[in-house]
Amino acid sequence: MAYTVPKLKDFSAKALDKAAAKLLSALEDETKAVASEGDWKEFRDRWMGRKNGVLTQINVLWLKAAPKDEKKQVGQRVNELNKQVEAKVDTALQRAQGGASEAKLAAERVDITLPGNVRPLGAEHPIIKTMNEIVSVFRNLGYSVEEGPEIETDYYNFEALNFPPNHPARDTQDTIFIANQESKATRDRLLLRTHTSPVQIRAMERTKPPIRIVVPGKVHRNDAADATHSPVFHQVEGLAVDTNITFSDLKGTLDHAMKALFGSSVKTRFYPSFFPFTEPSADVQISCLFCGGKGYRDGGRCPNCKASGWIELLGCGMVDPNVYGFADYDAKKVSGFAFGMGVERIAILKYGVDDIQMFYHGDVRFLEQFR
Ligand code: PHE
Repeated sequence: MAYTVPKLKDFSAKALDKAAAKLLSALEDETKAVASEGDWKEFRDRWMGRKNGVLTQINVLWLKAAPKDEKKQVGQRVNELNKQVEAKVDTALQRAQGGASEAKLAAERVDITLPGNVRPLGAEHPIIKTMNEIVSVFRNLGYSVEEGPEIETDYYNFEALNFPPNHPARDTQDTIFIANQESKATRDRLLLRTHTSPVQIRAMERTKPPIRIVVPGKVHRNDAADATHSPVFHQVEGLAVDTNITFSDLKGTLDHAMKALFGSSVKTRFYPSFFPFTEPSADVQISCLFCGGKGYRDGGRCPNCKASGWIELLGCGMVDPNVYGFADYDAKKVSGFAFGMGVERIAILKYGVDDIQMFYHGDVRFLEQFR
């Protein structure tokens, strides 16, 4: 039967001893039964609850009920019992908590033969990866990295690059213009840059010669998306201006860069071309990676280079003297070259990707191959 606090008639030391012993033995028994935190709360309330806990009851039934001349010794007893009950309640809590984690530990078994939790690792996007590779080839040659805005003015994208207003060369870059710019002078109108070349001018405005920079970045053209076109793509621009830089410096630099990117057996060829901001201008072709430059493979024409043995990869040339005028460089004292390459195009060749759209779909099965 559960312990209840008795009313006392006899307040002698002997009677108090007996009553206290009964109470303490009940306390001991009930302490043993506390196995969880839930048990413990009940236990605590039963013994220490303000309203009707055992301690409150002995205060009323024993101390307050004691006749005047017994109060002192009953008070001492009750105080002692208070302390003993509090101490038991404390240790019971520690036991209940410790017991719970011991029970948990007993139930948990670590199977060290199970495979660990494998967290899927992210991968660098192939475009960023390729862009970083291109940039690092030029950083190793002493070039530094510059960037410029994607929303550009007509001035930097065209005019300062020697595309005069209304010049037909502008038509080669299907430009996306920002709407409602008609009230501005043509040169201030905003557009999405069609190439990274405007950063040539921006960098030369900031830096006196000599200058050697590479410019990675995103560019936009009004092209319909298909397997080989995307309205948004990436370029890496290069610019080197110093005294006595020649076309053979350009050839040597790009030949080295193509070998660094595609392997030392790759050959380069410079093919006459036109850009308003370089003179002379050239397209750089590399020997076809698929047929080794032979033009045929697997007993037929090589489809990758259309049997020519060469793949066109980038544009370049000697900086046109007119461009120096826009940048406040003295065209009589300096010379230099510039080049611009498409990152997607290089990534497609390096990794044998047959659809440029794969780069933008975010399909994990495609992307995780570049880890
Ligand atoms: N900006 C040119 C393009 O996008 C490439 C280029 C850069 C050509 C630098 C010559 C020099 O087509």
